[in-house]
Amino acid sequence: MVLRYLWHLLVMLKSETVKINISLIIAILLAVGGVAFIFTAFQISAERDKLKGELEAKTIRAIEEFTADFIIHDSVPETDRITDSLARSYGFNGIAIYTSSDSIFKTSPSLQPYLEHSNDYVQQAIVSDSSLGNYFKQNRNSIYQYIVPAHSERGMDAAIIFYSDAEYINNIVNEIWARSFVRWFLQAMLISAITLLIIRRSILSPINKVVEWVKAARFGNIDKIKSKPPSEFLQPLYKEISGIAQAIQEAKAIAQEEARLRTSAESVWTPERLGEEMKQILENKTMVIVSNREPYMHVKSGNEIQCIVPASGMVTAMEPIVKACGGLWIASGSGDADRETVDENDKVMVPPYEKAYTLRRIWLTKEQEHHYYYGFSNEGLWPLCHIAHTRPVFRKTDWDYYKEVNELYAKAVIKEIKNKEEPFVLVQDYHFALLPKLIKEARPDARVALFWHIPWPNPESFGICPWKKEILTGMLGADLVGFHTQYHCNNFLETVNQTLESRVIWENFSVKIGNHFTLVKPFPISIAFTSKDLDANGTENREDRVKPSDLLKHHGITAQYMGIGVDRIDYTKGLIEKFLSIERFLEKSPDYVGKFTFVQIGAPSRSLLKTYSDTISSVEQEANRINWKFKVKGWQPILFLKGHHSHQEIEPYYQSADFCMVTSLHDGMNLVAKEYVAARKNNDGVLILSQFAGASQELYGSIIINPYDIEESSDAIAYALEMPKEIQAQKMKLMRRVIMKHNVYSWGANILRTMASIEN
Ligand code: G6P
Repeated sequence: MVLRYLWHLLVMLKSETVKINISLIIAILLAVGGVAFIFTAFQISAERDKLKGELEAKTIRAIEEFTADFIIHDSVPETDRITDSLARSYGFNGIAIYTSSDSIFKTSPSLQPYLEHSNDYVQQAIVSDSSLGNYFKQNRNSIYQYIVPAHSERGMDAAIIFYSDAEYINNIVNEIWARSFVRWFLQAMLISAITLLIIRRSILSPINKVVEWVKAARFGNIDKIKSKPPSEFLQPLYKEISGIAQAIQEAKAIAQEEARLRTSAESVWTPERLGEEMKQILENKTMVIVSNREPYMHVKSGNEIQCIVPASGMVTAMEPIVKACGGLWIASGSGDADRETVDENDKVMVPPYEKAYTLRRIWLTKEQEHHYYYGFSNEGLWPLCHIAHTRPVFRKTDWDYYKEVNELYAKAVIKEIKNKEEPFVLVQDYHFALLPKLIKEARPDARVALFWHIPWPNPESFGICPWKKEILTGMLGADLVGFHTQYHCNNFLETVNQTLESRVIWENFSVKIGNHFTLVKPFPISIAFTSKDLDANGTENREDRVKPSDLLKHHGITAQYMGIGVDRIDYTKGLIEKFLSIERFLEKSPDYVGKFTFVQIGAPSRSLLKTYSDTISSVEQEANRINWKFKVKGWQPILFLKGHHSHQEIEPYYQSADFCMVTSLHDGMNLVAKEYVAARKNNDGVLILSQFAGASQELYGSIIINPYDIEESSDAIAYALEMPKEIQAQKMKLMRRVIMKHNVYSWGANILRTMASIEN
C-alpha cells in the first residue's frame, strides 16, 4: 500500500519533472529574452539618441561654419554653386533654399520629393526665427532635415534646409537588434542546457534511482536493490526502501506459499508450519520423544567415527518432526562409538551439522539388551503383532528385563521432565508398552502418547501373550494410543474389551479404566514430503537421470530394465516371496531374461536372533538359486545388496528403477513405498505394494498384491514393466498428492493437537 503510493508519487513526480522541465525552459527563454530585450531597447535608444545627436551636431557645426558667409543670392547659379559645394563638403544629401517673396524652393530636382515634408517646418522656423530639425521618411529611407532661417540679399525672409541621410542610424540600430537577439538566444540556450543538466543530475537521476528501487521493491526484488549502492544523500531513503523490499519479499513468499496451498485446495504441512504450530501448542512446555532405536548412531570405521542413520521406519518418520520442533529424544545408545561422542549428561546435539535437537543416550547392559530388546521385544511382541507365521517366544526372564528397562527409561524421562510443567511425552513403539503408565503415575500432569509403529493383531492372536493384561494396562496409562490404521485401532479396542476390566467407548474410540481415559486413534505415518517436493514434478531431466543400465553396470550386470526393493532383512518383509515372484515372472516372460534385473537392498537387522540370521541366509540362498537357474554371462536376475545403505545411496535406485516392489507379509505402514513415490519427480515408475502393508490403505495408485500369491505378484511385475507411461503418470501423480497432503508434518501436528486437546 505504502509502496504503491510511493510509486504513484514518484511516477507523478517524474512526469511532473518533465512538465517542469518544459516550463522551466520556456521561463528561462522568456526571462533571458525579456532582460535582453529591455537592455537592448535601452542600448538602442541610447545609441539612436547618440547617433541622432551626432548627426544633428554635425549638421549644426557645418552650418555654423558656413552660414556666416552664406548669402542667398538673387543669382540662382551662384546659389546653386554654393549649395552644391556645401553638400559635397559636409556629406549632405542636398540643400534647399526657400524665399518668401516667391514662396518657392530652390533645389536640385532629386530633392524635389523632400519639399513636401519641409513646408510646414520652414514657416515655423521663419516665424520663430530659430533653427529646427526633424526626421521624415522618404521612400522608406530616413532623412534628417535641419532648417535655418536666413536673410536674402534683398532683405527678404528666407530659410535654408539641409537634408542628411539618417538611414544609416536605422541600419546600425537593426544590426544591434540582430546582434542582441543572437547573443540572447545563445545565452538562453546555454542557461537552459546548464539548468537541465543540473536538474537531471540533482533531481531527475536521484528520482530515477528511487523509482528503480521502488519498482524493485514492489516486486520484492531485493537483489536488484542490493546491486545498486546509493549515493550518500539517498542513504536514508535507500535504507527504508530496502527494508520495505525485504518485508515484501518475505510477505510475497508467504503469500505464494499460501496461494499454492489454496490452489491445491489443501493445507499442506511444512516443517516451518509444524514448528509454529508446536510453539502454540506447547507454549514453552517441554517435548520428550522416547524410543529404543536412536536417530543417529556413532560407529567406528578404522580410526574415524562415523555418524549413521539406522534403517528404521520409526526413525525415518520421527526425525524430521523433532528436527522441525526441537526437543529432547531419549534412546538407547547402540553404536560402538556412542559413548565417546556424548557429554557428561550422556547428551549430544544432532544432526551432526545442524544440531537441531538433543539426543540423550541410555546405556543398556548386555543382559538388558539381550532379554529386553532381542528377547521380549523382538522374539515376543514383534512376531505376536505381525501375523507372519513366525511363532512368538515368551520367556519369563525376557519379560522381567522388559519391565526393568521400561522402568529404567521411566526414571530417565521423569528426571528430564523434573520441574517442567505439563510436559509432552511421545513414547515410540512396542519396546515401551509399560512406559506410559509408569510416567503417568509419577507425573499425572504430563501428557503422554504412545505410538505403536507396528500392526496390532486380532484379540485371539494377542491373547496368547502371558502378560497381555500388564501390557494393555501399561499402554492404557497413556492419554493417547496411536496406530497407523483404524483397523489396528479396532483390533486393539477389541483386545482391551476382551482382556481387561474396562469400558471401551466405541462412540469416540476411547477406553476408560477407573477415572482415566485413553483415546485410541489412527495416525497414518508418512515421510517429509511437502508441496515444494511436489512442485519438483517434471524438473528432473530424463537425460541427466542415472539409467538402470548405468547403475547395474557398476555391479558387472548388463540389463535395461530394473526393479528395486529396499527392506530390513526381516521375515515379515516377504523377501522370499518377492524372489519367487521374480523367478515366476522370468519363467512366464522369457523375453526379459538378460534384460531385467531386480535389485534388492537389504539391511541386516537383529541378526543375533536365529529367526533373523536364518532369514538372511535363506534370502541369500534364494537369490543365488534363482541367479544360478537363469545364469547368463554378464547378467543376473537378482542383485542382492546386503548391508547398511544411506538414503543418499538408495536414492539413485529409487529414481531410476522401473518399479519398486514391497511384499510385506504384515507391516504397520511401510515407508519405503512412500519414499519410492516421493523420488519419482517425473511421475513415472510403478509401485507394487502388498495389501498387508498399512500404506496400501492410502496409495491407491499402486498395484496391490497378495505377496503369498506368487502368480499374482509375477503378473504384477509384467504389468508394471509394460504399463504405458500415461497411466504411470496418472497413478504416480495421485500418489504423490496423497503423500504431500498426509506428510509426516501433518502426522506430527495431528498427534500433538490431539494430545493438547485431551483434558488432564
Ligand atoms: C520397525 C520398528 C522400529 C524399529 C525398526 C528397526 O520399523 O517399528 O521401532 O526401530 O523396525 O528395527 P530395530 O530393531 O533395528 O530398531
